[in-house]
Amino acid sequence: MFTERILSGMRPTGRLHLGHYHGVLRNWVRLQLEYECYFFVADWHALTTHYDEPEVIEQHVWDMVVDWLAAGVDPARATLFIQSQVPEHAELHLLLSMITPLGWLERVPTYKDQQEKLSEKDLSTYGFLGYPLLQGADILIYRATKVPVGEDQVPHIEFTREIARRFNHLYGKEPGFEEKAELAVRRLGSKKGKLYRELRTRYQEQGDDEALAAAKALLQEQQNLSLGDEERLYGYLEGGGKMILSEPSALLTSASRMPGLDGQKMSKSYNNTIGLREEGEGITRKIRTMPTDPARVRRTDPGDPDKCPVWQFHLVYSDEKTREWVTQGCTSAGIGCLECKQPVIEAVLAEQEPMRERARMFEEDPTLVRNIIADGCEKARELAQETLRDVKQAMGLNYV
Ligand code: TRP
Ligand code: SF4
Repeated sequence: MFTERILSGMRPTGRLHLGHYHGVLRNWVRLQLEYECYFFVADWHALTTHYDEPEVIEQHVWDMVVDWLAAGVDPARATLFIQSQVPEHAELHLLLSMITPLGWLERVPTYKDQQEKLSEKDLSTYGFLGYPLLQGADILIYRATKVPVGEDQVPHIEFTREIARRFNHLYGKEPGFEEKAELAVRRLGSKKGKLYRELRTRYQEQGDDEALAAAKALLQEQQNLSLGDEERLYGYLEGGGKMILSEPSALLTSASRMPGLDGQKMSKSYNNTIGLREEGEGITRKIRTMPTDPARVRRTDPGDPDKCPVWQFHLVYSDEKTREWVTQGCTSAGIGCLECKQPVIEAVLAEQEPMRERARMFEEDPTLVRNIIADGCEKARELAQETLRDVKQAMGLNYV
């Protein structure tokens, strides 16, 4: 039984590169072994900034999903879906917008940053301002507990937590909450009820987070709780109201820094990428023409790996012994740069071999990909509808 639910999304920006692989996908592939995972294509989020390029979005969506599958994201382990195919996200976004203070959105640092960075676009739109709230709806609708994201997305997770808290505060209050919660504890049975009380006391009096986690796990195992009691028992653990939406936390993982061919961050806009399923010859050529330490004008000039982008690749791809050989050979002019690049070329090609293999299958039969996504969307919708039902009930919209 899983106690954590992981959710993450990626905007469809076209074919993915090694930066995405080492920064995000490798992580997803690992997480899917341990947790219940939901991964989705954030196509509405792409429209917030690329509303003027509707013609490319479809291709980008399918290319990205094939890249995920090629990288080893496994539809038998993780649920893969497309945001716009689960319209419940939009409904929750709308409902949450009722309680979202404008100032909270304007304060999210990415709002001004991105507007400045993409100054050629008009991003003073309603949709773009609401970007973090849409992301919040993505997360809250699955009651995800952990969201693997990069550093830059942490403010969005914080914002999501605040929205969840505000929602629970506004709608989790009910007359006679304490009595109802106590009744619910009794319904757990005497043994589990006693354990629940002990854990709750330990958390509330000593701030014992392990006790809180244990109590949550206990509740998660209960099969016969009514929805109302479940929300009460979760809310009673931490405070004075029902917990209808759960607060997620960011899962920051130590992603290896994958620089681009020129040593800057790998990014399509810098034109310094290696694609995830690029053909071998192209990759070889790109690495062979990578810049190196400018001090090595002639083969006999010694160099310094710290001033060379190739060294960054060795840090990602090479073992201790190879790195030793590089440092030694570079600083003494004992090896040439092409020689130095050879193990990197081989490692990148070897890494991509199984990816190309897997991708071929999906490229040859696109219906495979469509079916994976159709199944994922269906599964996601079921879960999304459950949350939405609770939200609508809490907001007084359960009259039909
Ligand atoms: N904003 C995220 C990014 O640009 C993409 C995203 C949208 C997302 N919704 C999400 C990530 C929900 C995690 C959870 O990378
Ligand atoms: Fe870079 Fe290797 Fe050349 Fe040194 S020998 S400058 S590390 S490519």
